[in-house]
Amino acid sequence: MLKYILGLSLVMLAMTGCNKGDSEGHTSDKPITIKFSHVVAESTPKGIGANRFKELVEQRLEGRVKVEVYPNSQLYDDNKVMEALLLGDVQMAAPSLAKFGKYTKKLQVFDLPFLFNDLKAIEKFQLDETGRDLLGSMSDTGYRGLAYWHNGLKQMSANKPLRNPEDAKGLKFRIQQSDVLQVQFEQVEASPQKLAFAEVYNALQTGVVDGAENPWANIYSKKFHEVQKYFSETNHGYLGYMLVTSDSFWNSLPEDIRTELDAIIAEVTAEVNEEAYKLSMDYRQKVIDSGRTEVLPLTDEELAKWREAMKPVWAHFEEEIGKDVVDAALSSNE
Ligand code: LMR
Repeated sequence: MLKYILGLSLVMLAMTGCNKGDSEGHTSDKPITIKFSHVVAESTPKGIGANRFKELVEQRLEGRVKVEVYPNSQLYDDNKVMEALLLGDVQMAAPSLAKFGKYTKKLQVFDLPFLFNDLKAIEKFQLDETGRDLLGSMSDTGYRGLAYWHNGLKQMSANKPLRNPEDAKGLKFRIQQSDVLQVQFEQVEASPQKLAFAEVYNALQTGVVDGAENPWANIYSKKFHEVQKYFSETNHGYLGYMLVTSDSFWNSLPEDIRTELDAIIAEVTAEVNEEAYKLSMDYRQKVIDSGRTEVLPLTDEELAKWREAMKPVWAHFEEEIGKDVVDAALSSNE
């Protein structure tokens, strides 16, 4: 009996310990550290969002949670950061939606060219039921989607003017890790090459690739306009992010901290997404003002040709993504 009581007390003691701390060793006197790793400059929507997140967390959870932000691929590229999240080496990241193909096919919807009319339609889709469900589309792989952050619409660039789809024929384009983007460029008989973001400037400068597709904030902050002679205003696709963490980290947090983090993320998300379009237009102007490149507006007829050439990509991926998801995305244009 004594042995039984002793055993029980030990179990209870251990359980009290668990409540005080947690599986990742968080205790009330040691601040929890959130390492947030990303690949872009601090002046882009994601860079601003990450820093704002740090600021609000350290204001409102002072002494309890500390945030370390690592921008510009200082710590990891977007492939490695996903592994690092599961290993607990970082606790937050926000890779582009194009980079989750290994974990879910559904998010490929965001890469389909000319699917969304504008950022407003994308926002509507992300906020509706289908879009919100997609935040949980990687739950069986241990990742938890927390929010969507915009960057902007992508522009195509090269050292020759790209006005019509035929102009892209035979050119090598750098793409993100996305099968949709691969097929998109194959559709115009170009040759896509998957490269990490940190390698893009050099690849353009040395001619490893001839062109790329990027939103204005990334173009300007990484000086791509200094190594590409022309930017066509194609606005053909979306570059946005999913703020992600791992289930194991998130579930290990004390409930009150998780609630506060949720509230902060909602606030930062609203700020980032409200500012993203304006920021994008400011960077577009900076690229023009730099005088280092030429920005080519396309006519409606030219854009219609690009759209026509790339539209078969939708059917190619519809089954993988799910017709319901593609239809919901399309209906956000209405
Ligand atoms: C890219 O690789 O081009 C982007 O995903 C970079 C980013 O995070 O905006």
